Amino acid sequence: MKLKGQTFIITGASRGIGAALTMEFAKAGANVVLGARNKGALERVREAAKGLGVEAVAVAGSAADDGVAQQLVKAAKVIGNFAGFVHNAGILNAGPLVVELPEAQYDEILESNLKGGYQLARYSYPNLRRQQGGVAVFLGSGAAEHHIPGMGIYGVAKAAEEYLARQLALEVPEVTCFIYRPGIVETDMQRQLREAEGGGATALRPLFQGYKAQGRVLSPEQSARALVRILGGEPRKFHGKIATYSDA
Ligand SMILES: NC(=O)c1ccc[n+]([C@@H]2O[C@H](COP(=O)([O-])OP(=O)(O)OC[C@H]3O[C@@H](n4cnc5c(N)ncnc54)[C@H](OP(=O)(O)O)[C@@H]3O)[C@@H](O)[C@H]2O)c1
Repeated sequence: MKLKGQTFIITGASRGIGAALTMEFAKAGANVVLGARNKGALERVREAAKGLGVEAVAVAGSAADDGVAQQLVKAAKVIGNFAGFVHNAGILNAGPLVVELPEAQYDEILESNLKGGYQLARYSYPNLRRQQGGVAVFLGSGAAEHHIPGMGIYGVAKAAEEYLARQLALEVPEVTCFIYRPGIVETDMQRQLREAEGGGATALRPLFQGYKAQGRVLSPEQSARALVRILGGEPRKFHGKIATYSDA
């Protein structure tokens, strides 16, 4: 798929994989519309992308918010050549067992990973569908299949998010829709897993500290570059499926 001159929405762009994805899209000549809650951090990423000579717009707020999703899509349409989105926003809240997890943290996990994806899809799809050839990517995780103490509701959210992506692929086949599992990536989320507190800490800490010690942790740039390479190639072959870092 052509990336240069096309416009993509990226949620969770204020840090981690989303910030790296923004820069990789910009390096490929794609315009970016960025979402995240932290206005200051998001603005810094927007400026960095603009510095590479592409259009870059930031919309601060939760991806789960109806109005934010509408603004993201509106900004992409104003720039023009709206070609797709990457729903990357996600919260894990590592550590507590399911029965220990405060309700506010439960809501945060479901809202960022799942509701944000639903909101973005329902406002983007009418546009992506019309132009035939649009793309929708959802950041998935092995947590959707593996039960690990201390990250249960995140697993619930990722399983639901991956289901959502497969459902969209089925219902609207003209929009290429797939899941991207980014690998084990060195971000705030990964650091929280290594330093987890609560009932899941005894399982999480050795597992994730072990990944780091074994040199299995990718940089955000490595993982982001792989997704942009997949998108710049033949993303259609992943329609309704899972793509990983090693597919690039
Ligand atoms: N790191 C890994 O090893 C790994 C592995 C598998 C999957 N993933 C997935 O990859 C994606 C990115 O993760 P990451 O590791 O880069 O995490 P991260 O460094 O913690 O970044 C998460 C991003 O999501 C944003 N965010 C959180 N809640 C949001 C909301 N309600 N609305 C809008 N933005 C929101 C955060 O920005 P604000 O706080 O400014 O809102 C931040 O930009 C997530 O979907 C995650 O589940 C990561």
